[in-house]
Amino acid sequence: MSAPHTEPFAFDTVQEAPGFNRNNRFRSRPNESFLTLTEDDAVVESLTESVLIQGDAYFALDLLPERSIQTVVTSPPYWSLRDYDIDNQIGRDESLDDYIGGLVRTFDKVRRVLRADGTVWLNLGDAYTSGNRRYRAPDKKNRARAMSVRPPTPDGLKPKDLIGLPWRLAFALQDAGWWLRSEIIWNKPNAHPESVRDRPTKAHETVFLLSKNQDYYYDVDAVRGPNERRLRTTWDISTEPRKRCHGPVDDHPAVMPATLAERCVKLSTQAGSVVLDPFAGSGTTLLAAQQLGRRWVGVELKPEFVELIGRRLTNS
Ligand SMILES: C[S@@+](CC[C@H](N)C(=O)[O-])C[C@H]1O[C@@H](n2cnc3c(N)ncnc32)[C@H](O)[C@@H]1O
Repeated sequence: MSAPHTEPFAFDTVQEAPGFNRNNRFRSRPNESFLTLTEDDAVVESLTESVLIQGDAYFALDLLPERSIQTVVTSPPYWSLRDYDIDNQIGRDESLDDYIGGLVRTFDKVRRVLRADGTVWLNLGDAYTSGNRRYRAPDKKNRARAMSVRPPTPDGLKPKDLIGLPWRLAFALQDAGWWLRSEIIWNKPNAHPESVRDRPTKAHETVFLLSKNQDYYYDVDAVRGPNERRLRTTWDISTEPRKRCHGPVDDHPAVMPATLAERCVKLSTQAGSVVLDPFAGSGTTLLAAQQLGRRWVGVELKPEFVELIGRRLTNS
């Protein structure tokens, strides 16, 4: 295991870098303890405080210093599930290869900013092919917009096939040089019923632990399972009712349970480490990091969600 990360940090100081245009940085609320930037801002030379960037993760990650992040806890948009109604969103790709390729390219950018002993916790759900139905019925239960069209069945798959999305992405990341260290089954004891009658109801998602190098920081004692046993690869974590999500998250359709984010942060960081979520959504990972005394960097494409993160993080 690598040496712990013990650099001191302060939330109230900004490292002024040569050529840095301070006017580009803005704080939308006076009591915010983090910087809010856009992907067009100048490069941040040193992460002395937490940073929220509005933009496409692929470009926004270029703003961060090399090897500055200890761990990434993230849940990218799933393929063809939700329409976030904004240009450059990941997930609306017509082809499966484009979707996987786009994520691999973004994770190449993540690798640059990750410390040598850094890790990635990557949560992704699976999906079925559409059986060549191009239309998707509106989701009446979820206020968020489901994709109105479904992509064609990828070559080599058949109608109604389970795609294996998490594993396809995991293999692609492995090919791109990442170490694939664990597959965790996130079991949802309160999963919604499904109307299907020809297979069991889906009640889990996958979380992969990946590392930049063969050796990396992992605190095996930071979280214990039932009966104080070492954590196993099946995690029972209920999805959380919105009112328990530490703040107003009603505006976001795909919020990760706080318990899941906290667990990953605890296992892979120490006080003062920097945690990144390149697809920050409503900011669950960032909130977990803040509450555990870690600095954080969040990237989110949709300005409305950046606002939501600002409200959630400022009031916590
Ligand atoms: C599944 S949600 C993340 C939810 C988050 N874990 C939470 O608990 O709120 C994925 C997010 O990625 C954002 N997104 C989509 N494409 C993006 C891109 N190219 N760069 C950055 N964010 C993007 C979406 O707007 C959405 O909020």
